[in-house]
Amino acid sequence: MQSAVVLAALAAFAGSALAQNTLMVDDNDPLIDYEPSGEWTVLNGSTIGAFGGTLHFTGLSGNTSSPTSGVAEATATYTFSVPATGFLWMGYQRSDAGLYQICFDCDGNNPITAQVDALNTTSTGSDFPVTLYSISTLSFDIHTVVISNLFDSRHGSYGQITIDAFELTGVASNTSSSSSSSSSSSSSSSSSSSSSSSSSSSSTTPSVPTTPIAPPISPLSSPTAAPPKSGAMARFGVPASAVALLATLLAGALML
Ligand SMILES: *[C@@H]1O[C@H](CO)[C@@H](O)[C@H](O)[C@H]1NC(C)=O
Ligand SMILES: *[C@@H]1O[C@H](CO)[C@@H](O)[C@H](O)[C@H]1NC(C)=O
Ligand SMILES: *[C@@H]1O[C@H](CO)[C@@H](O)[C@H](O)[C@H]1NC(C)=O
Ligand SMILES: *[C@@H]1O[C@H](CO)[C@@H](O)[C@H](O)[C@H]1NC(C)=O
Repeated sequence: MQSAVVLAALAAFAGSALAQNTLMVDDNDPLIDYEPSGEWTVLNGSTIGAFGGTLHFTGLSGNTSSPTSGVAEATATYTFSVPATGFLWMGYQRSDAGLYQICFDCDGNNPITAQVDALNTTSTGSDFPVTLYSISTLSFDIHTVVISNLFDSRHGSYGQITIDAFELTGVASNTSSSSSSSSSSSSSSSSSSSSSSSSSSSSTTPSVPTTPIAPPISPLSSPTAAPPKSGAMARFGVPASAVALLATLLAGALML
């Protein structure tokens, strides 16, 4: 009897997890257009902790205070592969400068624009990627997002842009399986999301190695810069809120 209630609670938990379908988009996804291409560097192999094992970041060459420098003009443009209501950008905080603009559908009728502040003066080269920006209130549609740089007056320069991964949230329930066969990045995302919905509470980093490794360093970044650094992607594990929800459901079931 009691186990039946627990099973019902687990089913409810699984249902709520499935209701939030997500699709990981690795920084190597060919649908991401990095411009100018010479301004962006991709690190792979050495960035084992980063999602998908790779990281894109801009260089900091030339006069980074100038609006005509490569880093100032760098952009990353991505058009959703499937309709979604939400979007996350995973990257690294910066200890020197890091102020960006993110814009959805900027060439359309209803653009959504926001500033992204990645400055954390105490961040270090051994920090993990974090969610630099997220939104969950988009219309369920294919959106085009453009990330560009903004002058960061706190440091008097444009900052390094880092992209470890994007994540689409609120995608239709059947898109992750169909798209997982079309690209390796989405298949690893669906495996990570399936393990987070099926594991109860023990594993918080289903598909990501936890060993910190040497930081990728932009050779020309200023000495005070915290280089983008890879590490375990804690955020890809079971969200604390999901664990708390499960615990609440189980506690409620046991009291019945
Ligand atoms: C990174 O990936 C590119 C293209 O996939 C490849 O040419 C390069 O050798 C890789 N570098 C490392 C360090 O694995
Ligand atoms: C760098 O660019 C800024 C802004 O355009 C300019 O004021 C400054 O003089 C430049 N510095 C050098 C060394 O060229
Ligand atoms: C800033 O970086 C430090 C060092 O990693 C970290 O402890 C802190 O939580 C970060 N602050 C924010 C707001 O992310
Ligand atoms: C997948 O979703 C689309 C749009 O929501 C729908 O038209 C289609 O029938 C669905 N396919 C399956 C196999 O559920």
